[in-house]
Amino acid sequence: MSAPSIVGARLGYEDSYTLERFLATDGDAGLRRALLELTPEQVHAEVLEANLLGRGGAGFEAGRKWSMLRKAPRRYLVVNGDESEPATFKDHLLVERDPHQLVEGATIAAYAIGASVAFIYLRGEFALGLERVQQAINDAYARGALGRNIFGSGFSLDIVLQPGAGAYICGEETALLESLEGKRGFPRIKPPYFPAVIGLYGAPTIVNNVETVSNLPWIVRHGGAAFRALGAGRSTGTRIFALSGSVRRPGAFEVEMTSVTFRELIYGDAYGQGLEPDRELRAFIPGGVSSPWLFPEHLDLPLGQDEVAKAGSMLGSGSIIVMDDGDCPVRAAWRIARFFARESCGQCTPCREGGTWIEQVLRRLELGYGREEDLDLLLDACDNISPGVTWPPAQTTICVLGPSIPPSVVAAIRRFRDVFLTHIKEERCPYD
Ligand code: NAI
Ligand code: SF4
Repeated sequence: MSAPSIVGARLGYEDSYTLERFLATDGDAGLRRALLELTPEQVHAEVLEANLLGRGGAGFEAGRKWSMLRKAPRRYLVVNGDESEPATFKDHLLVERDPHQLVEGATIAAYAIGASVAFIYLRGEFALGLERVQQAINDAYARGALGRNIFGSGFSLDIVLQPGAGAYICGEETALLESLEGKRGFPRIKPPYFPAVIGLYGAPTIVNNVETVSNLPWIVRHGGAAFRALGAGRSTGTRIFALSGSVRRPGAFEVEMTSVTFRELIYGDAYGQGLEPDRELRAFIPGGVSSPWLFPEHLDLPLGQDEVAKAGSMLGSGSIIVMDDGDCPVRAAWRIARFFARESCGQCTPCREGGTWIEQVLRRLELGYGREEDLDLLLDACDNISPGVTWPPAQTTICVLGPSIPPSVVAAIRRFRDVFLTHIKEERCPYD
Protein backbone atom coordinates (compact mmCIF):
# COMPACT_ATOMS: atom_id res chain seq x y z
CA MET A 1 0.00 0.00 0.00
CA SER A 2 1.19 3.54 -0.62
CA ALA A 3 0.18 6.84 1.01
CA PRO A 4 -2.29 8.43 1.39
CA SER A 5 -4.22 5.67 3.01
CA ILE A 6 -7.89 5.89 3.93
CA VAL A 7 -9.62 2.54 3.70
CA GLY A 8 -6.28 0.74 3.77
CA ALA A 9 -4.78 2.62 6.73
CA ARG A 10 -4.64 -0.47 8.98
CA LEU A 11 -3.64 -2.98 6.35
CA GLY A 12 0.07 -2.62 7.03
CA TYR A 13 -0.39 -4.15 10.48
CA GLU A 14 -0.11 -7.90 10.85
CA ASP A 15 -3.04 -7.86 13.31
CA SER A 16 -5.15 -5.34 11.34
CA TYR A 17 -8.29 -7.46 11.73
CA THR A 18 -8.26 -7.59 15.54
CA LEU A 19 -10.38 -5.48 17.86
CA GLU A 20 -7.25 -4.39 19.74
CA ARG A 21 -5.65 -2.94 16.60
CA PHE A 22 -8.93 -1.35 15.53
CA LEU A 23 -9.40 0.44 18.85
CA ALA A 24 -5.74 1.50 18.97
CA THR A 25 -6.03 3.16 15.53
CA ASP A 26 -9.08 5.47 15.72
CA GLY A 27 -11.56 2.60 15.74
CA ASP A 28 -15.10 3.76 16.66
CA ALA A 29 -14.02 7.44 16.50
CA GLY A 30 -16.05 8.04 13.31
CA LEU A 31 -19.05 6.22 14.70
CA ARG A 32 -18.95 8.10 18.00
CA ARG A 33 -18.69 11.43 16.20
CA ALA A 34 -21.56 10.54 13.89
CA LEU A 35 -23.89 9.31 16.61
CA LEU A 36 -22.99 11.69 19.44
CA GLU A 37 -22.15 14.93 17.59
CA LEU A 38 -23.96 14.88 14.24
CA THR A 39 -27.52 14.39 13.07
CA PRO A 40 -28.20 11.84 10.30
CA GLU A 41 -28.68 14.79 7.94
CA GLN A 42 -25.26 16.17 8.86
CA VAL A 43 -23.61 12.80 8.20
CA HIS A 44 -25.38 12.70 4.85
CA ALA A 45 -24.19 16.24 4.10
CA GLU A 46 -20.57 15.20 4.76
CA VAL A 47 -20.88 12.30 2.34
CA LEU A 48 -22.38 14.59 -0.29
CA GLU A 49 -19.55 17.04 0.29
CA ALA A 50 -17.00 14.23 -0.07
CA ASN A 51 -18.54 13.28 -3.42
CA LEU A 52 -17.87 9.66 -2.55
CA LEU A 53 -18.47 7.64 -5.72
CA GLY A 54 -19.72 4.09 -5.23
CA ARG A 55 -16.79 1.66 -5.34
CA GLY A 56 -18.74 -1.39 -6.59
CA GLY A 57 -18.27 -0.59 -10.26
CA ALA A 58 -20.92 1.81 -11.51
CA GLY A 59 -19.43 4.83 -9.70
CA PHE A 60 -22.79 6.32 -8.71
CA GLU A 61 -22.48 9.05 -6.04
CA ALA A 62 -23.22 7.42 -2.65
CA GLY A 63 -24.67 10.61 -1.12
CA ARG A 64 -26.95 11.16 -4.13
CA LYS A 65 -28.17 7.57 -3.88
CA TRP A 66 -29.03 8.14 -0.22
CA SER A 67 -30.98 11.28 -1.26
CA MET A 68 -33.14 9.11 -3.51
CA LEU A 69 -34.27 6.85 -0.69
CA ARG A 70 -38.05 6.85 -0.48
CA LYS A 71 -39.50 8.00 2.82
CA ALA A 72 -40.99 5.05 4.67
CA PRO A 73 -41.17 3.82 8.27
CA ARG A 74 -38.99 0.81 7.39
CA ARG A 75 -35.74 1.16 5.45
CA TYR A 76 -32.83 -1.19 4.98
CA LEU A 77 -29.13 -0.94 4.36
CA VAL A 78 -27.48 -3.77 2.43
CA VAL A 79 -23.71 -3.93 2.09
CA ASN A 80 -22.69 -5.70 -1.08
CA GLY A 81 -19.64 -7.86 -0.51
CA ASP A 82 -20.40 -10.49 -3.13
CA GLU A 83 -17.27 -9.58 -5.05
CA SER A 84 -16.85 -12.34 -7.63
CA GLU A 85 -15.62 -10.87 -10.87
CA PRO A 86 -12.36 -12.45 -12.09
CA ALA A 87 -9.34 -10.42 -10.88
CA THR A 88 -11.43 -8.25 -8.56
CA PHE A 89 -10.15 -8.70 -5.01
CA LYS A 90 -10.18 -5.38 -3.18
CA ASP A 91 -13.31 -6.07 -1.09
CA HIS A 92 -11.89 -9.48 -0.20
CA LEU A 93 -8.91 -7.68 1.31
CA LEU A 94 -11.02 -5.19 3.28
CA VAL A 95 -13.35 -7.88 4.57
CA GLU A 96 -10.53 -10.12 5.79
CA ARG A 97 -8.07 -7.50 6.92
CA ASP A 98 -10.30 -4.75 8.38
CA PRO A 99 -13.71 -6.19 9.29
CA HIS A 100 -14.25 -3.76 12.19
CA GLN A 101 -13.94 -0.79 9.84
CA LEU A 102 -16.59 -2.38 7.63
CA VAL A 103 -18.99 -2.81 10.55
CA GLU A 104 -18.30 0.74 11.75
CA GLY A 105 -18.93 2.10 8.24
CA ALA A 106 -22.14 0.11 7.87
CA THR A 107 -23.40 1.45 11.20
CA ILE A 108 -22.66 5.04 10.14
CA ALA A 109 -24.49 4.48 6.82
CA ALA A 110 -27.48 2.94 8.59
CA TYR A 111 -27.65 5.90 10.97
CA ALA A 112 -27.51 8.40 8.09
CA ILE A 113 -30.31 6.71 6.12
CA GLY A 114 -32.50 5.79 9.10
CA ALA A 115 -32.24 2.00 8.93
CA SER A 116 -32.56 -0.11 12.06
CA VAL A 117 -31.59 -3.36 10.34
CA ALA A 118 -28.64 -3.80 7.98
CA PHE A 119 -27.40 -6.82 6.08
CA ILE A 120 -23.85 -7.57 5.03
CA TYR A 121 -23.98 -9.97 2.09
CA LEU A 122 -20.59 -11.61 1.59
CA ARG A 123 -19.40 -13.93 -1.09
CA GLY A 124 -19.77 -17.45 0.33
CA GLU A 125 -16.21 -18.41 -0.65
CA PHE A 126 -14.80 -15.71 1.67
CA ALA A 127 -14.59 -18.25 4.52
CA LEU A 128 -12.05 -16.32 6.58
CA GLY A 129 -13.76 -13.02 5.83
CA LEU A 130 -17.11 -14.37 6.99
CA GLU A 131 -15.55 -15.58 10.23
CA ARG A 132 -13.86 -12.23 10.86
CA VAL A 133 -16.86 -10.07 10.01
CA GLN A 134 -19.07 -12.19 12.28
CA GLN A 135 -16.49 -11.76 15.05
CA ALA A 136 -16.45 -7.99 14.41
CA ILE A 137 -20.26 -7.90 14.66
CA ASN A 138 -20.16 -9.90 17.90
CA ASP A 139 -17.47 -7.60 19.32
CA ALA A 140 -19.53 -4.54 18.36
CA TYR A 141 -22.58 -5.86 20.22
CA ALA A 142 -20.39 -6.68 23.22
CA ARG A 143 -19.01 -3.11 23.55
CA GLY A 144 -22.29 -1.32 22.78
CA ALA A 145 -21.35 -0.32 19.20
CA LEU A 146 -24.32 -2.32 17.86
CA GLY A 147 -27.71 -3.24 19.25
CA ARG A 148 -29.98 -1.02 21.30
CA ASN A 149 -29.07 2.59 22.08
CA ILE A 150 -25.57 2.53 20.62
CA PHE A 151 -23.12 4.46 22.87
CA GLY A 152 -26.16 6.00 24.58
CA SER A 153 -27.09 7.90 21.42
CA GLY A 154 -30.65 6.64 21.15
CA PHE A 155 -29.86 4.99 17.79
CA SER A 156 -30.33 1.20 17.56
CA LEU A 157 -29.14 -1.14 14.83
CA ASP A 158 -28.92 -4.87 14.19
CA ILE A 159 -26.55 -6.20 11.53
CA VAL A 160 -27.15 -9.59 9.93
CA LEU A 161 -24.33 -11.33 8.06
CA GLN A 162 -25.49 -13.36 5.05
CA PRO A 163 -23.14 -15.58 3.02
CA GLY A 164 -23.80 -15.94 -0.71
CA ALA A 165 -24.05 -19.38 -2.27
CA GLY A 166 -21.60 -19.17 -5.16
CA ALA A 167 -23.58 -17.34 -7.85
CA TYR A 168 -21.79 -14.37 -9.42
CA ILE A 169 -25.10 -12.85 -10.47
CA CYS A 170 -26.03 -12.32 -6.81
CA GLY A 171 -23.54 -9.44 -6.80
CA GLU A 172 -25.99 -7.60 -9.06
CA GLU A 173 -27.88 -5.57 -6.49
CA THR A 174 -31.44 -6.67 -7.30
CA ALA A 175 -30.45 -10.35 -7.62
CA LEU A 176 -28.77 -9.92 -4.24
CA LEU A 177 -32.04 -8.65 -2.76
CA GLU A 178 -33.92 -11.62 -4.24
CA SER A 179 -31.30 -13.92 -2.73
CA LEU A 180 -31.63 -12.23 0.67
CA GLU A 181 -35.38 -12.80 0.47
CA GLY A 182 -34.65 -16.49 0.06
CA LYS A 183 -35.42 -16.64 -3.65
CA ARG A 184 -33.41 -17.57 -6.70
CA GLY A 185 -30.97 -14.78 -7.62
CA PHE A 186 -32.78 -13.36 -10.64
CA PRO A 187 -32.13 -9.64 -11.31
CA ARG A 188 -35.19 -7.42 -11.24
CA ILE A 189 -35.97 -4.91 -13.95
CA LYS A 190 -34.68 -1.43 -13.11
CA PRO A 191 -35.55 1.33 -13.79
CA PRO A 192 -38.16 2.33 -12.79
CA TYR A 193 -37.92 0.54 -9.43
CA PHE A 194 -34.43 1.06 -8.11
CA PRO A 195 -33.84 -0.48 -4.66
CA ALA A 196 -33.92 3.02 -3.18
CA VAL A 197 -37.64 3.03 -4.02
CA ILE A 198 -38.63 -0.65 -3.78
CA GLY A 199 -35.91 -2.85 -2.36
CA LEU A 200 -35.68 -5.60 0.23
CA TYR A 201 -39.13 -6.96 1.20
CA GLY A 202 -40.61 -4.06 -0.78
CA ALA A 203 -39.05 -1.45 1.51
CA PRO A 204 -36.71 1.34 0.36
CA THR A 205 -33.18 -0.05 0.50
CA ILE A 206 -29.71 1.33 -0.01
CA VAL A 207 -27.20 -1.10 -1.46
CA ASN A 208 -23.63 0.09 -0.96
CA ASN A 209 -20.38 -1.72 -1.73
CA VAL A 210 -17.91 -2.82 0.98
CA GLU A 211 -15.23 -0.31 -0.02
CA THR A 212 -17.82 2.49 -0.20
CA VAL A 213 -18.97 2.04 3.40
CA SER A 214 -15.41 1.39 4.59
CA ASN A 215 -14.61 4.99 3.62
CA LEU A 216 -17.28 6.43 5.92
CA PRO A 217 -15.44 6.34 9.29
CA TRP A 218 -12.62 8.44 7.78
CA ILE A 219 -15.03 10.85 6.08
CA VAL A 220 -16.94 11.44 9.33
CA ARG A 221 -13.70 11.84 11.31
CA HIS A 222 -12.02 14.24 8.90
CA GLY A 223 -14.97 15.81 7.09
CA GLY A 224 -16.18 15.51 3.52
CA ALA A 225 -14.06 18.47 2.41
CA ALA A 226 -10.84 16.69 3.44
CA PHE A 227 -11.84 13.68 1.38
CA ARG A 228 -12.73 15.85 -1.57
CA ALA A 229 -9.35 17.58 -1.32
CA LEU A 230 -7.83 14.31 -2.50
CA GLY A 231 -8.19 13.49 -6.17
CA ALA A 232 -9.64 15.82 -8.79
CA GLY A 233 -12.95 16.55 -10.48
CA ARG A 234 -15.56 13.90 -9.75
CA SER A 235 -12.91 11.42 -8.67
CA THR A 236 -12.31 12.15 -5.01
CA GLY A 237 -10.49 10.36 -2.21
CA THR A 238 -8.53 7.18 -2.80
CA ARG A 239 -9.35 3.79 -4.31
CA ILE A 240 -7.89 0.37 -3.98
CA PHE A 241 -6.78 -0.92 -7.38
CA ALA A 242 -6.33 -4.65 -7.76
CA LEU A 243 -3.51 -5.14 -10.25
CA SER A 244 -2.97 -8.56 -11.79
CA GLY A 245 -1.83 -10.34 -14.93
CA SER A 246 1.57 -9.91 -16.54
CA VAL A 247 3.19 -7.60 -14.01
CA ARG A 248 6.11 -8.50 -11.80
CA ARG A 249 4.38 -7.37 -8.64
CA PRO A 250 0.64 -7.97 -8.69
CA GLY A 251 -1.33 -6.75 -5.67
CA ALA A 252 -3.80 -4.29 -4.20
CA PHE A 253 -2.65 -0.68 -4.12
CA GLU A 254 -4.48 2.22 -2.53
CA VAL A 255 -3.97 5.27 -4.70
CA GLU A 256 -5.19 8.85 -4.57
CA MET A 257 -7.65 9.19 -7.43
CA THR A 258 -6.23 10.80 -10.60
CA SER A 259 -2.77 11.23 -9.02
CA VAL A 260 -1.29 8.20 -10.74
CA THR A 261 -1.41 7.10 -14.39
CA PHE A 262 -1.81 3.55 -15.64
CA ARG A 263 1.84 3.73 -16.68
CA GLU A 264 2.90 4.52 -13.12
CA LEU A 265 0.66 1.83 -11.66
CA ILE A 266 1.86 -0.87 -14.04
CA TYR A 267 5.55 0.10 -14.21
CA GLY A 268 6.18 2.08 -10.98
CA ASP A 269 8.50 0.61 -8.34
CA ALA A 270 5.90 1.23 -5.66
CA TYR A 271 3.26 -0.67 -7.63
CA GLY A 272 3.41 -3.27 -10.40
CA GLN A 273 7.15 -2.93 -11.20
CA GLY A 274 6.60 -3.51 -14.89
CA LEU A 275 6.55 -6.58 -17.09
CA GLU A 276 9.04 -9.43 -17.22
CA PRO A 277 12.20 -8.59 -19.24
CA ASP A 278 11.75 -8.93 -23.02
CA ARG A 279 7.99 -8.62 -22.71
CA GLU A 280 5.93 -5.80 -24.18
CA LEU A 281 2.56 -4.52 -23.12
CA ARG A 282 -0.19 -5.68 -25.43
CA ALA A 283 -3.36 -4.47 -23.67
CA PHE A 284 -4.83 -3.89 -20.25
CA ILE A 285 -8.34 -4.17 -18.90
CA PRO A 286 -8.90 -1.11 -16.70
CA GLY A 287 -11.98 -1.85 -14.60
CA GLY A 288 -12.93 -5.50 -14.36
CA VAL A 289 -13.59 -7.93 -17.19
CA SER A 290 -16.77 -6.13 -18.27
CA SER A 291 -14.79 -3.03 -19.25
CA PRO A 292 -13.51 -2.37 -22.77
CA TRP A 293 -9.77 -3.04 -23.14
CA LEU A 294 -7.22 -0.25 -23.31
CA PHE A 295 -3.85 -0.33 -25.09
CA PRO A 296 -0.31 1.10 -24.78
CA GLU A 297 -1.42 4.47 -26.18
CA HIS A 298 -3.69 4.83 -23.11
CA LEU A 299 -0.93 4.34 -20.53
CA ASP A 300 -0.73 8.04 -19.64
CA LEU A 301 -4.39 8.28 -18.64
CA PRO A 302 -4.79 9.12 -14.95
CA LEU A 303 -6.77 6.70 -12.78
CA GLY A 304 -9.91 8.82 -12.69
CA GLN A 305 -13.53 8.00 -13.38
CA ASP A 306 -14.15 10.54 -16.13
CA GLU A 307 -10.69 10.27 -17.68
CA VAL A 308 -11.15 6.55 -18.33
CA ALA A 309 -14.75 7.06 -19.48
CA LYS A 310 -13.55 9.60 -22.05
CA ALA A 311 -11.23 6.94 -23.47
CA GLY A 312 -14.29 4.71 -24.02
CA SER A 313 -13.87 2.43 -21.03
CA MET A 314 -14.50 2.56 -17.28
CA LEU A 315 -12.72 2.27 -13.96
CA GLY A 316 -15.45 -0.13 -12.83
CA SER A 317 -14.53 -2.26 -9.87
CA GLY A 318 -10.91 -1.06 -9.91
CA SER A 319 -9.33 -4.27 -11.11
CA ILE A 320 -6.68 -3.93 -13.78
CA ILE A 321 -5.51 -6.93 -15.78
CA VAL A 322 -2.29 -6.57 -17.76
CA MET A 323 -1.60 -8.62 -20.90
CA ASP A 324 1.79 -8.85 -22.54
CA ASP A 325 2.83 -9.97 -26.01
CA GLY A 326 3.02 -13.58 -24.85
CA ASP A 327 -0.64 -13.61 -23.83
CA CYS A 328 -3.12 -14.76 -26.44
CA PRO A 329 -5.93 -12.20 -26.89
CA VAL A 330 -8.22 -14.88 -28.39
CA ARG A 331 -7.81 -17.02 -25.31
CA ALA A 332 -8.35 -14.01 -23.04
CA ALA A 333 -11.59 -13.06 -24.81
CA TRP A 334 -12.72 -16.70 -24.75
CA ARG A 335 -12.07 -17.08 -21.01
CA ILE A 336 -13.96 -13.88 -20.24
CA ALA A 337 -16.91 -14.91 -22.44
CA ARG A 338 -16.87 -18.37 -20.86
CA PHE A 339 -17.10 -16.85 -17.39
CA PHE A 340 -20.12 -14.70 -18.26
CA ALA A 341 -21.84 -17.48 -20.23
CA ARG A 342 -21.54 -19.80 -17.25
CA GLU A 343 -22.77 -17.20 -14.80
CA SER A 344 -25.75 -15.99 -16.85
CA CYS A 345 -28.96 -16.48 -14.89
CA GLY A 346 -30.75 -17.36 -18.14
CA GLN A 347 -33.67 -14.93 -17.94
CA CYS A 348 -32.84 -12.96 -21.12
CA THR A 349 -32.40 -14.59 -24.54
CA PRO A 350 -29.54 -12.34 -25.79
CA CYS A 351 -27.45 -13.11 -22.70
CA ARG A 352 -28.36 -16.79 -22.32
CA GLU A 353 -28.15 -17.78 -26.00
CA GLY A 354 -25.77 -15.10 -27.25
CA GLY A 355 -23.29 -15.64 -24.44
CA THR A 356 -23.25 -19.40 -24.98
CA TRP A 357 -22.77 -19.09 -28.74
CA ILE A 358 -20.05 -16.47 -28.43
CA GLU A 359 -18.22 -18.68 -25.97
CA GLN A 360 -18.42 -21.69 -28.28
CA VAL A 361 -17.30 -19.80 -31.38
CA LEU A 362 -14.35 -18.28 -29.51
CA ARG A 363 -13.46 -21.72 -28.21
CA ARG A 364 -13.26 -23.19 -31.67
CA LEU A 365 -11.20 -20.25 -32.90
CA GLU A 366 -8.76 -20.63 -30.02
CA LEU A 367 -8.44 -24.36 -30.58
CA GLY A 368 -7.73 -23.90 -34.29
CA TYR A 369 -11.06 -25.00 -35.77
CA GLY A 370 -12.30 -21.50 -36.60
CA ARG A 371 -13.30 -19.89 -39.91
CA GLU A 372 -12.80 -16.33 -41.09
CA GLU A 373 -16.59 -15.75 -41.15
CA ASP A 374 -16.59 -16.41 -37.40
CA LEU A 375 -15.24 -12.92 -36.78
CA ASP A 376 -18.26 -11.23 -38.35
CA LEU A 377 -20.52 -13.77 -36.67
CA LEU A 378 -19.08 -12.82 -33.30
CA LEU A 379 -19.40 -9.09 -33.95
CA ASP A 380 -23.01 -9.60 -35.03
CA ALA A 381 -23.83 -11.64 -31.92
CA CYS A 382 -22.23 -8.94 -29.76
CA ASP A 383 -24.29 -6.27 -31.50
CA ASN A 384 -27.45 -8.20 -30.67
CA ILE A 385 -26.59 -8.30 -26.98
CA SER A 386 -25.48 -4.69 -26.77
CA PRO A 387 -26.38 -2.67 -29.87
CA GLY A 388 -23.52 -0.46 -30.98
CA VAL A 389 -21.26 -2.07 -28.38
CA THR A 390 -20.85 1.17 -26.50
CA TRP A 391 -20.01 1.55 -22.82
CA PRO A 392 -22.17 2.13 -20.84
CA PRO A 393 -24.14 -0.32 -22.94
CA ALA A 394 -27.40 0.04 -24.81
CA GLN A 395 -29.20 -2.83 -23.15
CA THR A 396 -31.41 -5.57 -24.54
CA THR A 397 -31.25 -7.40 -21.23
CA ILE A 398 -32.46 -7.03 -17.67
CA CYS A 399 -29.04 -6.48 -16.12
CA VAL A 400 -25.53 -5.65 -17.34
CA LEU A 401 -24.15 -9.18 -17.18
CA GLY A 402 -25.14 -9.84 -20.79
CA PRO A 403 -23.71 -6.56 -22.11
CA SER A 404 -20.51 -7.33 -20.20
CA ILE A 405 -19.65 -10.02 -22.77
CA PRO A 406 -19.15 -7.91 -25.94
CA PRO A 407 -16.48 -5.39 -24.82
CA SER A 408 -13.66 -7.96 -24.61
CA VAL A 409 -14.73 -9.82 -27.73
CA VAL A 410 -15.01 -6.67 -29.80
CA ALA A 411 -11.74 -5.21 -28.48
CA ALA A 412 -9.87 -8.42 -29.24
CA ILE A 413 -11.24 -8.71 -32.79
CA ARG A 414 -10.80 -5.04 -33.67
CA ARG A 415 -7.28 -4.78 -32.33
CA PHE A 416 -5.89 -8.28 -32.88
CA ARG A 417 -7.61 -9.44 -36.05
CA ASP A 418 -4.23 -10.66 -37.32
CA VAL A 419 -3.90 -12.96 -34.30
CA PHE A 420 -7.36 -14.43 -34.98
CA LEU A 421 -6.39 -14.99 -38.61
CA THR A 422 -3.17 -16.73 -37.56
CA HIS A 423 -5.21 -19.15 -35.42
CA ILE A 424 -7.38 -19.91 -38.45
CA LYS A 425 -4.49 -20.26 -40.88
CA GLU A 426 -2.24 -22.34 -38.64
CA GLU A 427 -5.17 -24.29 -37.15
CA ARG A 428 -3.74 -23.83 -33.68
CA CYS A 429 -3.02 -21.19 -31.07
CA PRO A 430 0.36 -19.63 -31.92
CA TYR A 431 0.98 -18.97 -28.20
CA ASP A 432 0.76 -22.61 -27.12
P1 NAI B 1 -26.25 1.16 -12.20
O1 NAI B 1 -25.56 2.27 -12.89
O2 NAI B 1 -27.57 0.68 -12.71
O3 NAI B 1 -26.55 1.60 -10.69
C1 NAI B 1 -25.57 2.05 -9.80
C2 NAI B 1 -26.23 2.30 -8.47
O4 NAI B 1 -26.96 3.51 -8.47
C3 NAI B 1 -27.23 1.23 -8.05
O5 NAI B 1 -27.17 1.04 -6.66
C4 NAI B 1 -28.56 1.82 -8.45
O6 NAI B 1 -29.63 1.31 -7.68
C5 NAI B 1 -28.33 3.27 -8.18
N1 NAI B 1 -29.14 4.14 -9.04
C6 NAI B 1 -28.86 4.45 -10.34
N2 NAI B 1 -29.81 5.29 -10.82
C7 NAI B 1 -30.69 5.50 -9.81
C8 NAI B 1 -31.89 6.26 -9.67
N3 NAI B 1 -32.37 6.98 -10.68
N4 NAI B 1 -32.54 6.22 -8.49
C9 NAI B 1 -32.04 5.50 -7.46
N5 NAI B 1 -30.92 4.77 -7.52
C10 NAI B 1 -30.26 4.77 -8.67
O7 NAI B 1 -25.21 -0.03 -12.11
P2 NAI B 1 -25.33 -1.51 -11.53
O8 NAI B 1 -26.05 -2.37 -12.49
O9 NAI B 1 -25.85 -1.48 -10.11
O10 NAI B 1 -23.82 -1.95 -11.45
C11 NAI B 1 -23.11 -2.26 -12.62
C12 NAI B 1 -21.64 -2.20 -12.33
O11 NAI B 1 -21.27 -3.19 -11.40
C13 NAI B 1 -20.81 -2.49 -13.56
O12 NAI B 1 -20.48 -1.26 -14.16
C14 NAI B 1 -19.60 -3.25 -13.03
O13 NAI B 1 -18.46 -2.44 -13.05
C15 NAI B 1 -19.92 -3.51 -11.60
N6 NAI B 1 -19.65 -4.91 -11.24
C16 NAI B 1 -18.87 -5.13 -10.14
C17 NAI B 1 -18.55 -6.41 -9.75
C18 NAI B 1 -17.71 -6.66 -8.56
O14 NAI B 1 -17.33 -7.83 -8.30
N7 NAI B 1 -17.38 -5.63 -7.76
C19 NAI B 1 -19.06 -7.56 -10.47
C20 NAI B 1 -19.86 -7.21 -11.60
C21 NAI B 1 -20.13 -5.93 -11.98
FE1 SF4 C 1 -29.78 -12.92 -16.29
FE2 SF4 C 1 -28.05 -12.32 -18.27
FE3 SF4 C 1 -30.50 -11.27 -18.25
FE4 SF4 C 1 -28.71 -10.47 -16.42
S1 SF4 C 1 -28.57 -10.17 -18.64
S2 SF4 C 1 -30.87 -10.97 -16.07
S3 SF4 C 1 -27.62 -12.43 -16.08
S4 SF4 C 1 -29.96 -13.45 -18.46
